[in-house]
Amino acid sequence: MSLFGKPKAFGLDLSDNALYLMEVKGESASSVTSAAHFELPKGLVEDGKVLDQEQLVDYLRNAVAESQPLAPSSNNVVLGLPESQTYIGHFRISKEISKKELLDEVYAEAGDNMPIDLENAAWDYEILATTEDAHEILFAAASAEVVEDYEHAMNLAGLDLKVLEPEALALSRSLIKPSDLEADQGVAILDIGARTSNLQFLDKMGLQLSLSVRVAGNDFTAAIAKHLKIKVDQAEIAKRSKGFGDAKIAATLNTIMLPLVNEFVEARNFYEAKVIRKVTDVILVGGSSAMPGIDQELQNLLRIPVSLGVPPFSFTDLQSHQIAAVSGLAMRGRILSSGINFIA
Ligand SMILES: Nc1ncnc2c1ncn2[C@@H]1O[C@H](COP(=O)(O)OP(=O)(O)OP(=O)(O)O)[C@@H](O)[C@H]1O
Ligand SMILES: [Mg+2]
Repeated sequence: MSLFGKPKAFGLDLSDNALYLMEVKGESASSVTSAAHFELPKGLVEDGKVLDQEQLVDYLRNAVAESQPLAPSSNNVVLGLPESQTYIGHFRISKEISKKELLDEVYAEAGDNMPIDLENAAWDYEILATTEDAHEILFAAASAEVVEDYEHAMNLAGLDLKVLEPEALALSRSLIKPSDLEADQGVAILDIGARTSNLQFLDKMGLQLSLSVRVAGNDFTAAIAKHLKIKVDQAEIAKRSKGFGDAKIAATLNTIMLPLVNEFVEARNFYEAKVIRKVTDVILVGGSSAMPGIDQELQNLLRIPVSLGVPPFSFTDLQSHQIAAVSGLAMRGRILSSGINFIA
């Protein structure tokens, strides 16, 4: 048993296409005590919302039952909520305000600034830093209905949802050690999935800016199918096997990359002006990061070093980008405490 005793919960990464479960007992690559992976059929979860409660419960039960090498040591779950269902904001709140009043002040600020009705939301906040005159607040919210649906599905599967946190926080926990960052250094994590690309900028203080762009892997495939006049499944194969290695496909892919690169540059400029730090590295994850040559192409377009994200753990033949998010969720499962949590 490790110094910290048994893990308090396992991590669960649930996307529209797949489910990953992982429990870890420590911080080394071989710390995985329990893990499972299932592809999900269409229509079960869509855009981060549970559509088929009953079938999802079956998958959850199977994931727990088939976990390897051991069964999870508890029924407690740390779940990630996709970027598309999460609202994240930052405020500065005067240090003059007492601890007791801080909560009310955060609520008032969020009410004024966040594009979600807080009456019908689950929300939480964290103090990222305290400067001479202000608290830097990281605020996150999600629809109460979406949160309840996940809680309900977990309960039906005999699980206990202890933590529900924005996926962005799990990814950064898994991919970046804040202690490795210089005081004036910013890093971007770019997660290019199937439907959305999620971008976050962070530094020693934590998550500073996150946004979602509706351009991702599905658009790459659709563009290849259209320009090469081939079927979508053939285009998917060409994308995965050739990617930027084929000049004709690369030209097509670049038409899709362009809006993504523009969004990146705009967000980067905003972030750098706001925090007076320079973004020195881009860490690439998500299924589309496996496309041949995408890292080099992005590096050329952004003129910042781009590397593929590597989580601290490995499991069987699963690739780094597949387990990046669940690794961060499993890490939180070791201690549970501190951090944004949508579960009251
Ligand atoms: N080897 C590969 N080469 C290119 N693209 C790939 C490869 N493997 C997976 N993909 C693409 O990755 C995408 C799926 O990525 P991921 O699993 O990160 O998505 P997701 O998290 O379920 O989706 P989203 O975040 O958009 O909701 C698909 O578009 C798929 O075509
Ligand atoms: Mg994703």
